[in-house]
Amino acid sequence: MKVIKAKDYADLSRKAANIISAQVIMNPKCVLGLATGSSPIGTYKQLIEWYNKDDVDFSGVTSVNLDEYVGLPEGHEQSYRSFMEETFFKHININPASTFLPDGNVEDLEKECARYDNLITDLGGIDIQILGLGHNGHIGFNEPDDAFEKMTNIVDLGETTIQANARFFASEEEVPKKAITMGIRAIMQAKKIILVVNGNDKYDILKKALTGAITPHVPASVLQLHADLTVIYCCDQEI
Ligand code: F6R
Repeated sequence: MKVIKAKDYADLSRKAANIISAQVIMNPKCVLGLATGSSPIGTYKQLIEWYNKDDVDFSGVTSVNLDEYVGLPEGHEQSYRSFMEETFFKHININPASTFLPDGNVEDLEKECARYDNLITDLGGIDIQILGLGHNGHIGFNEPDDAFEKMTNIVDLGETTIQANARFFASEEEVPKKAITMGIRAIMQAKKIILVVNGNDKYDILKKALTGAITPHVPASVLQLHADLTVIYCCDQEI
């Protein structure tokens, strides 16, 4: 595990973007595992800047996102599809047909979970996965539980997750209570993982995830077992 303390959020974002752009330059047909949330926004901004300078070309890249809410109407501005379009996809030359997110609007959600796992397998797995960290230790929407959820699955979002996400909705009641998320297996099978964590409010859970017991009660702790994990964090205290 490589743990890098960034000077500030801009530094964190540049460092993460550096790793991703190097991957795309070395393998223009790579599969990027992407995340939503506030943590990677600066990384996407930096990548867009380099794209605009012709330093990186996304035309051959495929992307698979970690998760999507269940039940938000198509095009809802808080859906993770909309977030990715607005924050990243529409600013770069990735082929829209090569951008994948789980579909939280299908009737048969179990079938959708299996389809998403098969899709990732068919793509040959994920070359590099970017992750944020939830206050409760979740990665993707794999919430604390008694067992690691291996496959893409439907989750009931925990109270802290709903509260944290309420800032994006008019009220807490509007936050969907379920989501569909890539499982731990696909995440752990990514050839490389970058975990980006910003803010002192994440310090305790980051420390627990990286140095505490490996337990499904802290889902991110499983990352200690990954062979190529880079953690880039920005907190006042050192891990
Ligand atoms: C987003 C995701 C979540 C977030 C996590 C941190 O696709 O899967 O696990 O990465 O909730 O969110 P932020 O970055 O908003 O603190």
